[in-house]
Amino acid sequence: MQVVEDVGELRDAVLSRRADVVGLVPTMGALHEGHLSLVERARRECGFVVASIFVNPTQFGAGEDYDQYPRPLEADRAACRDAGVDLVFEPTAELLYPADFKTYVEVEGLSGVLEGIHRPTHFRGVTTVVAKLLNLVQPDKAFFGRKDYQQLMLIRRMVRDLDMPVEIVGCPTVREEDGLAMSSRNAYLSKEERTTALALSRELHTVRDLLVSGAHDVSTERRLFAERLAATPGVELDYATICDPESLEELDRPQSRMVALVAARVGSTRLIDNVLVELDAPN
Ligand code: PAJ
Repeated sequence: MQVVEDVGELRDAVLSRRADVVGLVPTMGALHEGHLSLVERARRECGFVVASIFVNPTQFGAGEDYDQYPRPLEADRAACRDAGVDLVFEPTAELLYPADFKTYVEVEGLSGVLEGIHRPTHFRGVTTVVAKLLNLVQPDKAFFGRKDYQQLMLIRRMVRDLDMPVEIVGCPTVREEDGLAMSSRNAYLSKEERTTALALSRELHTVRDLLVSGAHDVSTERRLFAERLAATPGVELDYATICDPESLEELDRPQSRMVALVAARVGSTRLIDNVLVELDAPN
């Protein structure tokens, strides 16, 4: 496995494997099984797998956890090697954002709802760095988790709107046995907070079961879903809602595909999660 910091070296390495299908798995490191499931999928579909590890400063707001974000670089490299990554790209912030950096990619509309209300500059940072990584690696396919559902939708839209020649592959959310969605930020949770955090996945699955079993007043289910979470001790709710899976507009009536999404703080840790609700899908 090659570890590369430099752009020229990255380009040469990818160029030498251009005959293969090239896959990119962008990450911020602190790798867990969720990230590694993307690598596994990439391995199945690609002949050359690049993973990037970069804690992207432009997607963190003032007062967010950029400085505290875990950076276990040695363990991450070992995890990539074990998972069969061919090349790890570890750029520095100075390389990706020189002092006179002035160009951002922003997906209007979609970046302003849900997460965008609570983290107003977040998605501009995400789409900008993902555009840069796609330009640097020029993969045939790039792999993203549905855990960050709104992020995945924004990246799909950016790629479509800007005619980027890459296939975006969305991958299922990997959960702990008790339902908690895996996240690098779970490491911040105390034992007690971790138990409290289970309310998010539990309520998501409750609302999914209600919708699948025929609840037709989606606006009421939406309200009750948010009320149940807001009433959970230790959970400081940002939002809990049911949306159209493409436009992310809130729904009042059921439709064949919906997505329930939640964001909340447990202690000082901000967590997000979601589940897709497919009414026609066989169970
Ligand atoms: P990060 O949070 O490190 O996540 C990297 C990728 O792993 C994302 O596509 C994310 O959706 C996916 N992922 C995280 N937890 C997952 C889980 N439990 N199951 C499945 N996939 C999971 O998301 C980012 O980094 C950044 O915003 C990035 C896209 C790298 C841009 O900086």
